[in-house]
Amino acid sequence: TPRVFSGIQPSGGLTLGNYLGAMKRFVDMQDEGSFQTVYCMVDQHAITVWQDPEKLRHATRELCAGFIAAGIDPDRSILFNQSQVPEHAQLAWIFNCVARMGWMQRMTQWKDKAGKNQQNASLGLFAYPALMAADILIYHATHVPVGEDQKQHLELTRDVAIKFNHDYGVDFFPITEPVIEGAATRVMSLRDGSKKMSKSDPSDASRINMTDDADTIAKKIRKAKTDPDALPSEAKGLEDRPEARNLVNIYAALADSSVDAVLAEMGGKQFSEFKPILSELAVEKLAPISTEMARLMQDPAEIDRILGHGATQARELATPILKKTYDIVGMISS
Ligand code: TYM
Repeated sequence: TPRVFSGIQPSGGLTLGNYLGAMKRFVDMQDEGSFQTVYCMVDQHAITVWQDPEKLRHATRELCAGFIAAGIDPDRSILFNQSQVPEHAQLAWIFNCVARMGWMQRMTQWKDKAGKNQQNASLGLFAYPALMAADILIYHATHVPVGEDQKQHLELTRDVAIKFNHDYGVDFFPITEPVIEGAATRVMSLRDGSKKMSKSDPSDASRINMTDDADTIAKKIRKAKTDPDALPSEAKGLEDRPEARNLVNIYAALADSSVDAVLAEMGGKQFSEFKPILSELAVEKLAPISTEMARLMQDPAEIDRILGHGATQARELATPILKKTYDIVGMISS
């Protein structure tokens, strides 16, 4: 069976962008039943920028609770924390020696996150995509569901696999397929339709957090930036209307529908009418997740048990692939 891998950083809370662009799709791929699904909290990626240790531990458990509350079943998917499976970092070292500096320098996320003072960014932040390639390829995963912003990193993952196979004259690592699908592959800020919704935006009003209560969700949607026109009845009427398009995309993704179907139904409505409908749907879909997350967080020992179990399962898949990689590279493995 083809294998799916994806990861989410436990840095700060989950946003609606993470949920619609990634987590909800993870659940779909698990439930679809034609893949083995492997999902990871990538704490080693999170520390490429400094994290408060207690907050990191808390965020990792909360992310695990989020996965489960959103519908990931630890009996049907492998759910684990990256640092508990050391094979990721071991393979990443080899990939650090395969990937080129120039590849890393082209990454837009590196340029954005390092900012003007690249000399002061961590070496880990620069090498980040090589660890990401290792996350995926240590399982020989072929399908990787992500939001639009990870596309360039997945292209680099393919480049790493191709160069490794070429340099060692093998056909060992698969060429992975990005799965960037659905109506909400790029959820935008509620305050600025040209910016991605992100946990690092200083304005809390720019995003919906998975832990927001019903009143907060309704308030943020009510205040979301829009234009004065009514909703169009066809998708092409959303061109040059980024804020309007964003709210329609969010609605379509929450409703498991398409933009065309939503506009066929909602076309002609003013935002004063559409926003309460969107709020109601958002609260209906998100409130049970946040309630269940809070319930699971009452028992951190149980979360740690689930993560420990997931790590054992993940290592069973990763160990033979690392061993084979060592053999190919010329390392002595017993
Ligand atoms: P991260 O933690 O930033 O985000 C996790 C997932 O959420 C998606 N996402 C969004 N999708 C739509 N709209 C948004 N506004 C939005 N914001 C975030 C991201 O695309 C991602 O799918 N490097 C990755 C984590 C990672 C990974 C991997 C992913 C590490 N190793 C291997 C896939 C495979 C990251 O920082 O995601």
